[in-house]
Amino acid sequence: MTIIAIPKGRLMPLCLDKLTQLGIMQDYKHKERQLSYNLGNDITLFMIRNSDILTYVKNNMADIAFVGSDILLEDGDNGNSYYDYADANLGSCRLMVAGREIKTNYSVSNKLRVATKYTRVAADYYAGKGLQAEIIKINGSVELAASAGFVDQIVDIVDTGKTLEDNNLITLDKIADITTRIIANKGVMKSKWDSISPLLKKLEA
Ligand code: PRP
Repeated sequence: MTIIAIPKGRLMPLCLDKLTQLGIMQDYKHKERQLSYNLGNDITLFMIRNSDILTYVKNNMADIAFVGSDILLEDGDNGNSYYDYADANLGSCRLMVAGREIKTNYSVSNKLRVATKYTRVAADYYAGKGLQAEIIKINGSVELAASAGFVDQIVDIVDTGKTLEDNNLITLDKIADITTRIIANKGVMKSKWDSISPLLKKLEA
């Protein structure tokens, strides 16, 4: 049995389309809250939060996974504890610094206050710029913290730019181009090589 993990959210329909196009999946009329799906051919699909994908792969709970490179960047492990196989060629976006379009005089601290779920990447970015920043971890709807004036800037994914626009925020700097990577558990690359390698080659297509 091979387990493929895909992230829920923005990337899920793209991954499901890709698996369908490649003939790995026949259809995906699963129940709305269903978290796993038997694809036949000895393959099971797991639907997991993007931020949990690496935990599944590193802890032998998934063999292959699609994951945003933003997650790999924040993890900072550079593929030591997982196998970074190839680009999936889907879901490209940018990791950006953004802030308010109209600056307010309201300041709660001498330091920049920054909200993000990418705390490690953000800390590196501001340190690299020689700026003092207080990084506040927020997992979702991070734009709200900036538009409400609680933080000066956010570090977050920008895809269409609609979320920033609808919350009166503008992009200030790009930290990285983001894509979706195909990764694999290091152990299974050896123990299940015969079944994993044709599947990886197919996914890379
Ligand atoms: C992501 C990201 C932004 C949004 C950007 O959020 O965190 O909020 O997408 O997309 P856009 O540029 O096309 O508007 P997601 O929908 O994954 O939910 P989240 O707020 O829980 O992170």
